[in-house]
Amino acid sequence: MRASDPLSYLQADLDSLKQQGLYRHLRILEGEQKPKTTFDHHQVVNLSSNNYLGLTTHPRLRDAALDATRRLGVGSGSVRSIAGTMEIHMELERRLAAFKKVESVVVFQSGFAANAGTVSAVLNKDDVVISDELNHASIIDGCRLSRATIKVFPHKDVDAARQVLRGLPPAQRKLLITDGVFSMDGDLGALPGLCALAEEFGCIMMVDDAHASGVFGANGRGTVDHFGMHGRVDIQVGTLSKAIGALGGYVAGSKTLIEYLYHRARPFLFSTSHPPAVAAACIAAIVVLEQEPQIIDRLWENTTFFKNGLQALGFATGASQSPITPVIVGDGALAMRLSDRLFEEGVFAQGIAFPTVPRDKARVRTIVTATHTRDELQFALDVFGAVGRELGILAP
Ligand SMILES: Cc1ncc(COP(=O)(O)O)c(C=O)c1O
Repeated sequence: MRASDPLSYLQADLDSLKQQGLYRHLRILEGEQKPKTTFDHHQVVNLSSNNYLGLTTHPRLRDAALDATRRLGVGSGSVRSIAGTMEIHMELERRLAAFKKVESVVVFQSGFAANAGTVSAVLNKDDVVISDELNHASIIDGCRLSRATIKVFPHKDVDAARQVLRGLPPAQRKLLITDGVFSMDGDLGALPGLCALAEEFGCIMMVDDAHASGVFGANGRGTVDHFGMHGRVDIQVGTLSKAIGALGGYVAGSKTLIEYLYHRARPFLFSTSHPPAVAAACIAAIVVLEQEPQIIDRLWENTTFFKNGLQALGFATGASQSPITPVIVGDGALAMRLSDRLFEEGVFAQGIAFPTVPRDKARVRTIVTATHTRDELQFALDVFGAVGRELGILAP
């Protein structure tokens, strides 16, 4: 028996979260990831999932996954670089490369692994990464793992990034990196300006299109397509876990880049590859994006309706340009209270506070999907209005 628990400081940290009103219970989803569903025995309109196109339950993906499981089993049994590269993994990479209009693609177990594994593989301690201040945690972790010098520029501030670049030795290797869509604010990265900067200063240009995959660009090809930047971005990361409806991340780029990542990206080398069902579902998702683009049109119609509705009610929705619309309330405890009251009234929109967003920018984040009905979205707007007035966020 130990005299004291060496992990007791963890409990102290959790207690402090509780005191600040920031402690979160995991909401348990009972059933499928759908726009109207049941969490914690409570039926809600679900504004918290990244299932933008409703593909988590699309019949073509479901059938493809079931068929692959029957034919190929439930697991791959190895990391990609030993015995875990199945023909279906290669087919997925070929299909993604054609879809993204690049030479080659490598698929990782998640978008997180794709970002962290790629940045840490292509840079080393002598290099510099120039990174938007709101870039995703997986990019930040990749930068730290690489041991490169990290220079952060203010959000979307291309001139500030230029100032950073001017101060660096021309011969030093540099990676310029931005999210395509910022996950907490829903705004687009400054891709055109940053691409021009990358060309001016000879940087590697990288974009993380996790929230743009399946959402922006023709058939959901991402922000490179949306902004007409084909050929100007060296490393494109996408995710298969959000709009694509299954799980995974990928890097799209040149044949050399992908061959290099096959040899040097640590999640590729040291973590088991996807079950065949996941790869099959992702292939089916690409077919859906190509053959049913009207789903993406519906996503955008719903986005416009809901965003306009929140703004008409008087909420501060920031600079969102995507289906992610934050309702910014400032104080962390108030954001959590708003989220809890919405939930009690039948709307699930997650509260988000420091350290995920700055201390004075706590919010409830909403994400609409293509599969929400107008009635569901109108119901959610009515609840937002009533609860916003009740908590003094909106004028009575
Ligand atoms: C901007 C961004 N990049 C990467 C990821 C990681 O993607 P995945 O969920 O596939 O690991 C996320 C997910 O939260 C994200 O929001």
